[in-house]
Amino acid sequence: MHLVSQSALIALSFALADATTFESASQALQLDWDTITPSGDLVYHDCYDGLQCARLEVPLDWTNSTDTRTAVIAIAKLPAVVSDNDPSFGGSIFVNPGGPGASGVSFVLSDGHDLQQYVDKPGRRHYEIVSWDPRGIGRTTPSSDCFRSDAVSRSAWQLEARGNGGLDKGLDPIKYGLAMAKALSQRCKDSEHQWGDAMAFVNTPSVARDMVQMVDKIDELRKREGVSKAHDEPRLELKKRTEEDDVPRLQYIGFSYGTALGNYFASLYPGRVGRMVLDGVVNADDYANGPGWLTNLHDTDEILEEFWRGCHQAGPSTCALASDSDGSASEIKARFWSWVADLDDIPIPALSSTGTIVVITGDDIRKLVGSSLYDPIRTFKLLSTTLQQAMAGNTTGLVSNLVKLGHVPNLDTICSENNGTKPASILPESQSAVICGDGDDITDKDASWWYKYVQRQVSKSKLYGSYWANIRFSCSSWPFRPNLSFKGPFTTPKAFPSLAAGHPAAPLLFLSPRLDPVTPLNSARAMAANHPGAAVVIQESMGHCVIGTAPSDCTKAIVADYFESGTVPSEEIACKAQCGPWDDNCSGYSPAAVSISESTSWQFRGNPILFL
Ligand SMILES: *[C@@H]1O[C@H](CO)[C@@H](O)[C@H](O)[C@H]1NC(C)=O
Ligand SMILES: *[C@@H]1O[C@H](CO)[C@@H](O)[C@H](O)[C@H]1NC(C)=O
Ligand SMILES: *[C@@H]1O[C@H](CO)[C@@H](O)[C@H](O)[C@H]1NC(C)=O
Ligand SMILES: *[C@@H]1O[C@H](CO)[C@@H](O)[C@H](O)[C@H]1NC(C)=O
Ligand SMILES: *[C@@H]1O[C@H](CO)[C@@H](O)[C@H](O)[C@H]1NC(C)=O
Repeated sequence: MHLVSQSALIALSFALADATTFESASQALQLDWDTITPSGDLVYHDCYDGLQCARLEVPLDWTNSTDTRTAVIAIAKLPAVVSDNDPSFGGSIFVNPGGPGASGVSFVLSDGHDLQQYVDKPGRRHYEIVSWDPRGIGRTTPSSDCFRSDAVSRSAWQLEARGNGGLDKGLDPIKYGLAMAKALSQRCKDSEHQWGDAMAFVNTPSVARDMVQMVDKIDELRKREGVSKAHDEPRLELKKRTEEDDVPRLQYIGFSYGTALGNYFASLYPGRVGRMVLDGVVNADDYANGPGWLTNLHDTDEILEEFWRGCHQAGPSTCALASDSDGSASEIKARFWSWVADLDDIPIPALSSTGTIVVITGDDIRKLVGSSLYDPIRTFKLLSTTLQQAMAGNTTGLVSNLVKLGHVPNLDTICSENNGTKPASILPESQSAVICGDGDDITDKDASWWYKYVQRQVSKSKLYGSYWANIRFSCSSWPFRPNLSFKGPFTTPKAFPSLAAGHPAAPLLFLSPRLDPVTPLNSARAMAANHPGAAVVIQESMGHCVIGTAPSDCTKAIVADYFESGTVPSEEIACKAQCGPWDDNCSGYSPAAVSISESTSWQFRGNPILFL
């Protein structure tokens, strides 16, 4: 997760595997996607270590059959541990890691095995895990890249935005930021000459349509290969089906933005829903309508309160910010905010380990702490150490984490590896292209409107509101409008396990931590209420999303049962987590084989540069 800058582009974040780290550690497995010839039928090629990859050609414009332009979707699959015709083969589970803008291919590489273990029932059900780089993103072409692979120019842009400071500082940074956004918009339009307005076709309804295509193409491939549909429920085989019922259906887990994508899919193509798990739930109405992105931060500051409480309780041996002389958590909190206020007043200079100049402000601290709330188990102890050292005048760890999270562009790697020869992590423009295309057009808003918008965000979260406002601010001059648009209602008809055309095969299953910094529980409840029969499972943990941020056998069993039987709990239930951020027995928790190292750098399970 990480992201970036303050300006127009950016934002948020989500917490799954650090794809960048993974890939650099796996140079030997680097796949040259250009060697795969795109095709309209699905053709898999062996790739990486035990995966299969494909490049699927789809119409760029799903609404205009005379438009012959295409997008080529990069797909990666982790095969099931059994063969396709094994009776325990459960079919494909599609996953989306969020963002928007995160690469599904990287996600399969980094987290595929863990996700597979999460849903598989040994001896009973075994799934293949499939993901893809959505339109405009990663290895999918055309790419939403306003800088034409000129990473240095993009970083210069990000540094300038960083220097402009937080949008909550008044009208001046807003006015300057609006001009920067307008200039970027010009650059994006210029970059599109090659493709036409390709960035108008990357929004979520188009991606949902691509998912229908992928599901159909997988089904076709299986039929071509003569594999029986062994994964269908045996009882379904007995039922006489009409042609119409017998459509391939999606099995899906969406995280964060991926829950919005899932909700679009289910609402647009309810008859294509087989199973759908939505974890870390976005309020799709707020995402698609109005000023936008105003519901995310409902619980953010509450998690920060939990951080102080937990730190005080754990004491100085576990939480470096605590002191034996503290009478309560509020003393730790007061020290922190007073330090941040000092930094807001007088920024301090620092150098990164390689000499990059970094001027640290209170904004940096708010962003760093906000990022940490995504993944308390992996970061809280380290956060406390990093902050304590910085408050004592040692900014080494602070700067390295700011760089790692992308809050400071990493100039050291830009010219060497990130020069266009390698798929970049997440481009801010590719996030904006999706977010701005899905949301209402807000390109006519002036500085005073934005000032009020920023204030609204800050009123939701003192910690993260100013940063969060950048997400929609990136749309202030966004030049592309999609023709294929969907604004809701985000709802489905009743599910029919016996399969009926136009109806889901199972109700939707929503997952939420008790406290999530960017997709609060109340969004999960609001979204579930519009899907008949849907259930909300609360995990008694903190962080962004449930799967991957805290261990809970209870949640895991519900998810695995759901994929097998299609049943959800009959009412909202809560699952305990097995350990928390300050427990010793949690530090090894590593669903993605990413562990906190001894160093003060964080191994985020986050693809750099995500919002959700
Ligand atoms: C459909 O695509 C064709 C070919 O690119 C184009 O000439 C036509 O204007 C498009 N129609 C619409 C409604 O966009
Ligand atoms: C400053 O902090 C870093 C880790 O963040 C540590 O390695 C280093 O020893 C510290 N320097 C001093 C002078 O304490
Ligand atoms: C980009 O980086 C790669 C890998 O470090 C290097 O081989 C290549 O020469 C670089 N290209 C340019 C144009 O700098
Ligand atoms: C949307 O459709 C209109 C015609 O209905 C066309 O003129 C316009 O170019 C289309 N926009 C995009 C982005 O395709
Ligand atoms: C971890 O430690 C906590 C606190 O001591 C305890 O409540 C919890 O049950 C432990 N979890 C495991 C998996 O051992």
